[in-house]
Amino acid sequence: MTPARQLPDDAALESLLAFWADGGVDAMLLDAPFDRIEAGRILPPAPAARPIAALAPGPGTGPVARGQPDVSAAIAQAQALAAEAQDMEALAAAIAAFEGCPLRFEGAATKAVCWRGSLEAPLMVVGEGPGAEEDVQGLPFVGRAGKLLDKMLAAAGLADRVLITNTVFWRPPGNRTPAPHEQMICAPFLERAITLVRPKMLLLVGGASAKSMLKKDEGILSLRGRWFEWKSSDGAVELPAMPTLHPAFLLRQPGAKKRAWSDLLTLTERLDRPERPA
Ligand code: URA
Repeated sequence: MTPARQLPDDAALESLLAFWADGGVDAMLLDAPFDRIEAGRILPPAPAARPIAALAPGPGTGPVARGQPDVSAAIAQAQALAAEAQDMEALAAAIAAFEGCPLRFEGAATKAVCWRGSLEAPLMVVGEGPGAEEDVQGLPFVGRAGKLLDKMLAAAGLADRVLITNTVFWRPPGNRTPAPHEQMICAPFLERAITLVRPKMLLLVGGASAKSMLKKDEGILSLRGRWFEWKSSDGAVELPAMPTLHPAFLLRQPGAKKRAWSDLLTLTERLDRPERPA
């Protein structure tokens, strides 16, 4: 009988990692949660930060949710940095330099994932958060879900008319859903991007995007396909916004594609509708 071949350590390790990766394990988490906010690692020294409850309503702002850390200092810093950015290039640089979002130190292996597409787009697509492929490439929606999203946008005639971004700019560990407090910290940057680009409307992809942008508690299956009004925190910008199903969900449930397609057609019809003279 041939004795089992002994793999050298490195090869054994590589093979084990490949086995885990095939099974979808692509992140290592600590057994016990580590509170980086408590540890003081991510919050800058707080200069007269406004409590979250006192912030004007806007994407991601509002009272601290029960069980959520107080991230008002990080939000205040993001607001100040976002307000300084006079164009999208400066905004991307501000996001890249920002250290107030815990995700930057948890899931992200490389860099901030800001946006891709046309900076004059009439439609802004807001997803949930970057995944593994996005983290590597530094661009949103470039993995399998992104390829499906691109196909759907192209089929609807929207390929060159979109700017694609997310509610958070760093990959959540293990591709988990971004937490509300992480979305709140990133929201001033997202709001500034919307204000600078001034799209005609928003497509909110997935429940975590729709809920945080519209401050709704309903599930995506009830929100999708309906029109809502997104408002900037100062009330200066108001845009029609439609939630739809996430392409990652559609990859798992292809039978739901017709619902997402119907959402996209409804949105395209409104986008292409000639504007009535004032
Ligand atoms: N899913 C998202 O919500 N955003 C991405 O960028 C990629 C996958």
